[in-house]
Amino acid sequence: MQLIDSFGREIHSLRVSVTDRCNFRCTYCMPPEGIELLPRAHFLTYEQMTRLVGILARLGVRKVRLTGGEPLLRKDLAELVAMLRPLPGIEDISLTTNGYHLTEYAQALWDAGLRRINVSLDSLDKAHFHAVTRVDAFDRVWQGIEAAIATGFRVKLNAVALKETPMDDMVAFAGLAKSRGIETRFIEFMPLCGQGWEPDKVLPIAMVREAVGRAFRLDPDEIARGSSVAETYRVEGGGRVGFIGSLTEPFCEHCDRVRLGVDGRLQLCLFRDESLELRPFLEHHAPDEEIINYLMSGVKLKAAGHGFRWDDPRNQSRPNIRSIGG
Ligand code: 5AD
Ligand code: SF4
Repeated sequence: MQLIDSFGREIHSLRVSVTDRCNFRCTYCMPPEGIELLPRAHFLTYEQMTRLVGILARLGVRKVRLTGGEPLLRKDLAELVAMLRPLPGIEDISLTTNGYHLTEYAQALWDAGLRRINVSLDSLDKAHFHAVTRVDAFDRVWQGIEAAIATGFRVKLNAVALKETPMDDMVAFAGLAKSRGIETRFIEFMPLCGQGWEPDKVLPIAMVREAVGRAFRLDPDEIARGSSVAETYRVEGGGRVGFIGSLTEPFCEHCDRVRLGVDGRLQLCLFRDESLELRPFLEHHAPDEEIINYLMSGVKLKAAGHGFRWDDPRNQSRPNIRSIGG
């Protein structure tokens, strides 16, 4: 059986948010005082998440990425990794983290079977990193990245392309590809949390690509892009960089993902409201077949594209990325 939407797109990737809590306050994501949090009683347990991922795997999901909030704030995350890994059909499990707790958990995550980690790192400049995240933790995050690499993980960096980030700083990430083989993916600033998003604050991803391309020769990656959200290039001298232009270069046509919120809501698109409430099925111990029927028909609500418009008033007040799994 395969989950397939009304436009013929097969769903193979799942993001799972394991908490809406975060210890950072990135300016583009949260106000300084934080956000209203879900009651912990609404969180799915690891057993419930594992059950849902197992069902989704029966329906063709192959890749799972754990996100948040900050996923390493959820207790014993490695246990969840160990529970998901043996599920038939699941071929790839990865984690997106801000890196603050990575040094402590790298080994446990490795032992649980995790092999890939993306760390959100918007700047290689300490002061600018502090300004963006509102936490003076560059050194600690960098240590976490080093610890993960030393443990054996394949580590990629996610950098949100902000207008206030000096271009030199972004170019420095490509230098890291060359010197260390660490891949960075630049992400266009999206209107996800109503945090100061304005159309003229968006740095079109093409401008980042041009600036990086002036400093280093970039060759389009020969590996087909497929459903990957990033367009990747090989950096002259070694390594890769990727560009994710959700607004100016949308890739909805090839979308193969859905997102499971920590409260059990399956969101069909990051920018849209269509979602499937799965928690009631879990609470009533519904049989798998009932959940499968609901998913197979519910996925047809997935829209053709995010339908983003620059002048949409909702751009200032969208549901937030933290509980729907970045
Ligand atoms: N626009 C683009 N990326 C964002 N992220 C969080 N909020 C936004 C936004 N408004 C990124 C984080 C992290 C990933 C899960 O999403 O930096 O790397
Ligand atoms: Fe936390 Fe990630 Fe949001 Fe930053 S972007 S505040 S690290 S959830």
